[in-house]
Amino acid sequence: MLVLGIETSCDECSAAVVRDGRHLLSMVTATQIEIHKPYMGVVPELASRTHVEWINGVAKKALADAGVSLDDIFGIAVTNRPGLSGSLLTGLSFAKGLAFASGKPFVAIDHMFGHIYAAHLENDIEYPYIGLLVSGGHTILAIIKGYEEMQVLGTTIDDAVGEAFDKVAKFYNLGYPGGVVIDKLSKLGDPNAFSFPHPSLHKGDHQYDISYSGLKTAVINQLDQFHNAGYEKSNENISAAFQKTAIDMLTKRLLLAIDNTGLKTVVTGGGVAANSYLRKSITDISEQKGVTVYNPSLKLCGDNGAMIAGLGYHYLKNNVKSGFETTAHSRIPMFRKAYP
Ligand code: KG4
Ligand code: ZN
Repeated sequence: MLVLGIETSCDECSAAVVRDGRHLLSMVTATQIEIHKPYMGVVPELASRTHVEWINGVAKKALADAGVSLDDIFGIAVTNRPGLSGSLLTGLSFAKGLAFASGKPFVAIDHMFGHIYAAHLENDIEYPYIGLLVSGGHTILAIIKGYEEMQVLGTTIDDAVGEAFDKVAKFYNLGYPGGVVIDKLSKLGDPNAFSFPHPSLHKGDHQYDISYSGLKTAVINQLDQFHNAGYEKSNENISAAFQKTAIDMLTKRLLLAIDNTGLKTVVTGGGVAANSYLRKSITDISEQKGVTVYNPSLKLCGDNGAMIAGLGYHYLKNNVKSGFETTAHSRIPMFRKAYP
């Protein structure tokens, strides 16, 4: 059963064909990096207008690369939440048009459930497990109970982790996209050049929650206070020390979740799951705690149509589809169950 997945929630224009929710036949991701680079951040109006221009070509190429035609597709899966409204509406309207013209079903998909599904495209993973969802818009630690069910343990109370990377990179003019550049610069820097504050864990219900505003302020406004004597104040050192602190804050909460839940599997997803220091830290945790860790391959960490097609299969095969009145939602409540 072939599903065409469409993903246009932010600045990546992506489509993919996936068989049986598992086998990736093709994926085309057209990136808008060069369009947003001059602004050092995604400009929503430019993003949606570019999706309007690109999405037909991207979807056509995904079908051609898979060696199939629209006739061979069982149904269409498309991201409709959360994300930039204009960007989401572009992909959603395109998917509706395809569904209407072809008479095939379509299903609207939650982007965050899509991200956590990415690792399922490459591995047999059993539920439940601990999910670490880290992107430009979200930072969620959760027990993932099924393809449409999660129990959120903790989340950020201010900036998302990817957003913190992007803001630090923008402030120091390090390059764009911020997360990728900081990851690269960090390899040449010394994380001990600065000792940034590590907010302590809350107690009780909020023990897994996280805040990046203090770290952001320290790195951007109070750099000198945390500069260790004898170290150079270079971009490489700022990057390495910031990255270590930002990621250690996540892994500290992950370790707590492993101890408290007793779950033996950890799955990551989202753009920041590509971070090399996070991947190394999680590998260390897997050895130290005897848990199995699944990180999606790099091409499946960021936004992509494959995760949407893969997840969409589970709805469509059960005859769960969306109606033509379906619209986009820029935000989602801190959901515990996702319905299309
Ligand atoms: O999942 P994604 O592509 O889009 C959203 O759903 O937000 O994630 C994008 C985020 C951006 O903040 C970007 O800077 C960050 O992921 N990112 C990284 C890395 N690659 C992308 N952050 C840290 N290290 C990376 N290697
Ligand atoms: Zn994303």
